[in-house]
Amino acid sequence: KNIVILISGEGSNMAAIVRAAEEGRWTERFGARVAAVLSNRPEAAGLVFAREHGIATAAMSHKDFATREAFDAALAAAIEPHAPALVVLAGFMRILTPGFVERYAGRLINIHPSLLPAFPGLNTHQRAIEAGCRVAGATVHQVTVELDHGPILDQAVVPVLADDTPATLAERVLTQEHRLYPRAIEGWLRRG
Ligand code: GRF
Repeated sequence: KNIVILISGEGSNMAAIVRAAEEGRWTERFGARVAAVLSNRPEAAGLVFAREHGIATAAMSHKDFATREAFDAALAAAIEPHAPALVVLAGFMRILTPGFVERYAGRLINIHPSLLPAFPGLNTHQRAIEAGCRVAGATVHQVTVELDHGPILDQAVVPVLADDTPATLAERVLTQEHRLYPRAIEGWLRRG
């Protein structure tokens, strides 16, 4: 079972998954491995981490494609050789076309930094603070054509503190993402 991870930047969630796969012996236990890490940004720092862990990488800049569909087709072409059982969006900051989502339906997941269905979209931490939320968190969900709205696989909750800024809340949530995502994927692997 090949896992392909898509990133756009730091890739801290990807790194947490790669470490969990190694430490959790996913290959021996589930026949699963992180087969590739792909990015829409060639300068994404996470690509270096992936290469250091012996994982195949590829990057393609969305700026090089005239349409969203053309970029998604190139992305799918880079994914297909790995015949993925699971495609994992981890800090992947592109909205995917319906054609791409349908192609990977049922094996395409994402992590979103809010307790969905609250706060789909961007600036989730600022919005949670402004709304006066007492709790915030992250959600692992199946990707569907409607942005940030697919069936939920798992969630993690953190407190929102009175003196929180978007940055302090983001840091607290990100720490939990690094526990949540590997746990959600391992749960998916267990369910076979
Ligand atoms: C973070 O804001 C995280 O909450 C969201 O994507 C952003 C970058 O994550 N999932 P990563 O460090 O690139 O995994």
